[in-house]
Amino acid sequence: MTEKRVLLIIAGGIAAYKSLELIRELGRNGIKSRCILTKGGAEFVTPLSVSALSGEKVYTELFDLDDESEMGHIQLSRSADLVVVCPATADLMAKAAHGHANDLASTALLATDKPVLMVPAMNVRMWEYAATRRNVETLRSDGVTVMEPDEGAMACGEFGPGRLPDVHAITAQIEAMLHDGMDLPSFGPKPLAGRHALITAGPTREPLDPVRFLSNHSSGRQGYAIAGALAAAGARVTLVSGPVSLEAPRGVDLVPVETAREMLAACEKALPADVFISVAAVADWRPSRAAAKKLKLKEGDKTAPQSLDLSENPDILATLSRKKKKRPTLVIGFAAETHDVEELARAKLKRKRCDWIVANDVSGDVMGGADNQVSLVTPTGVDHWDRMDKTEVARRLVLRIAEAFEGELAGKVAAE
Ligand code: CTP
Repeated sequence: MTEKRVLLIIAGGIAAYKSLELIRELGRNGIKSRCILTKGGAEFVTPLSVSALSGEKVYTELFDLDDESEMGHIQLSRSADLVVVCPATADLMAKAAHGHANDLASTALLATDKPVLMVPAMNVRMWEYAATRRNVETLRSDGVTVMEPDEGAMACGEFGPGRLPDVHAITAQIEAMLHDGMDLPSFGPKPLAGRHALITAGPTREPLDPVRFLSNHSSGRQGYAIAGALAAAGARVTLVSGPVSLEAPRGVDLVPVETAREMLAACEKALPADVFISVAAVADWRPSRAAAKKLKLKEGDKTAPQSLDLSENPDILATLSRKKKKRPTLVIGFAAETHDVEELARAKLKRKRCDWIVANDVSGDVMGGADNQVSLVTPTGVDHWDRMDKTEVARRLVLRIAEAFEGELAGKVAAE
């Protein structure tokens, strides 16, 4: 494979220091970085540390005659396979959205003919401000990929979305864009060609009235990573997903749903499948009645509930596992546990009659994060996997699935 190269624009924000970590992580993955450091960016990291890590000259000023004779801004903007802005500040996104070109970074963004990825990091209020929302929308409709920032405590002491995503998640996004999404995990020949994989992901939303619902914090990341890896391995993939903010991976058929009952119906409609992977965090209960009109608290209106009456939702995994006809050949469930992971997963395996359980240890910060710590529990044994990126968990799981199908094939050949 030829070496991949990114043009990394480092703008001025407290998260700029993480771009150094990104350069290293990209390097470990065989991706070279050539960097532009904005004036603001240089307040947070020095050109010297950037050039030491990237092993290249760092570009800082638009009207530097030496640079213009060496490599002009037009050529610079096209010298890479992908342009990455990290961190992307509100200011630089505003400039890019409006086509300004008054410094090297904005000029390169305007001149490039390559895909662009922006990784925002800013104060939560700045991220949520109407002008920033508009700029992000404009950039996205112009074809720029803008990652969603992470949520959490910020350097400024506030809390909310605006933190730079984890460096591993940024690297995974960059790899996906460099490889055009198709061979995200590097599979050689397509081991699942001709197979149909059905997968659920994300949360479900159970309505209480037209504007309120019961749900959970599932981000959908693990399920989407598995769907992408299955497609990369050559499978036809149906991804039945609750509401999440992720783009469907390339080559995957997305069926968007809201409630658990819609999710079950969509899965049944998608059968037959060779493998079913139940990653969704399905709400166990739903409000027994969803009001047709918004429930009111005041005005003597008696519609406001004093307590919630809940009904149990169908168990999608157990329903598909127990099917007499059209049971997928391999049924894989997920189990989120904080303790006695293996024992509880084994009990779940029996109760839901699935073939394998991927047991998540959620005692740490797995939910919504980029990493996952799992054990693969099968009727005959258990494999404990190290804590790793969700993309890598997906790749390993898909390899195990491919091996299982190869084994089934080998068994059939031997029996004949
Ligand atoms: N699942 C499902 N339909 C449901 C509930 C869960 O398909 N209504 C699936 C999930 O997608 C996952 C597995 O079942 O594959 C998780 O089972 P669950 O019993 O919900 O386990 P936990 O979420 O781990 O919670 P608990 O241990 O409290 O039962």
